[in-house]
Amino acid sequence: MTPALFNPLELRDLTLKNRIWISPMCQYSADEGRVGTWHLVHLGGFATGGPGLIVAEATAVVPEGRISVGCPGLWNDELAEAWRPVVDFVHSMGTPIGIQLAHAGRKGSRNLDWVGGGAGPEQGGWQVVGPSANAYHGYPTARALEGHELPFIVQAFADAARRAISVGFDVLELHAAHGYLLHQFLSPISNQRTDEYGGSFDNRCRLLMEVVQAVRAVMPAGMPLFVRISATDWIEGGWDLDQSIKLAQLLQAEGVDLLDVSTAGLAHEQQVKVGPHYQVPFGAAIRRATGIATASVGLITDPQAANSILEDGDADAVMIARAALRNPRWPYQAAEALGYHLDIPDQLMRSRTV
Ligand SMILES: Cc1cc2nc3c(=O)[nH]c(=O)nc-3n(C[C@H](O)[C@H](O)[C@H](O)COP(=O)(O)O)c2cc1C
Repeated sequence: MTPALFNPLELRDLTLKNRIWISPMCQYSADEGRVGTWHLVHLGGFATGGPGLIVAEATAVVPEGRISVGCPGLWNDELAEAWRPVVDFVHSMGTPIGIQLAHAGRKGSRNLDWVGGGAGPEQGGWQVVGPSANAYHGYPTARALEGHELPFIVQAFADAARRAISVGFDVLELHAAHGYLLHQFLSPISNQRTDEYGGSFDNRCRLLMEVVQAVRAVMPAGMPLFVRISATDWIEGGWDLDQSIKLAQLLQAEGVDLLDVSTAGLAHEQQVKVGPHYQVPFGAAIRRATGIATASVGLITDPQAANSILEDGDADAVMIARAALRNPRWPYQAAEALGYHLDIPDQLMRSRTV
């Protein structure tokens, strides 16, 4: 019998050959937003290991939306073209590739951690923006975005989406998690606005919903749209699972196909209970309450246990991050561990044990 991890999944017109996906991971290695050889090797390496999907790292829709000075961007066509060799190689391995569209908001402008880190103009960064004039611990205070600036941000997401599609990406994922701009609008902790983008639940969701509508409108009907959320801030009075379930219903109605369910990252005061599969219950609750497809992520490292997540109906796919940094061919090794014969590139055939 085929292990659940290796059952194909259909989302709109895309068939994912299995349910082990590579989670987006910043590499801090772009040059003024332009990806290069590192990204080809990093993402290409994953593609040789047989995942059902790779989601490329948080990619900024405007320059000041980068998390760090080394983050990639999609704010012009030339930056999009730089992705083409990466996309083409991943496709040549029979693997679809998505990209995570992002705006870092108040949690951006970092210098590279390996040259000392820090954030803000004095560290080689820029003035960060956010829903309100407040700061993430260790970052400069954000300039609160004016209402009239928000349509430009929405448009920047749509333009970046169009560029990603033009160079061949198969899936788009919006980054509304980990304390970045869209999450900053969702959470009452970071969003203290008094206009129609702050206050009530619907108001806090408004920017994300506008981005979803604008992005969906430029996507082909057969192309899947994912949203990554932090299902809870792990802070009393912050964003939580109940709000995530309500949001999932709104997103589903606007044509979002899958929620990639993470947690945390909004504020330093968070009390995260970390352990193997610690985020699985959040995605599982959203999946059961709404029927939307979900991916689980976070300390999923054991193939048998990962398979159980799917068998138990807790998610439709698992996303692997750090375990795949350690071993980019994690899906291939998981298949062997489960006795499943996964298609791998011809060049690797002599390594097979199953
Ligand atoms: C080096 C690194 C970079 C990351 N960059 C991103 C990112 O660009 N976007 C994102 O949503 N999550 C990012 N994450 C979080 C991972 O996608 C994942 O959610 C997290 O590491 C938990 O999964 P794991 O336990 O399998 O590593 C990053 C994680 C790591 C280790």
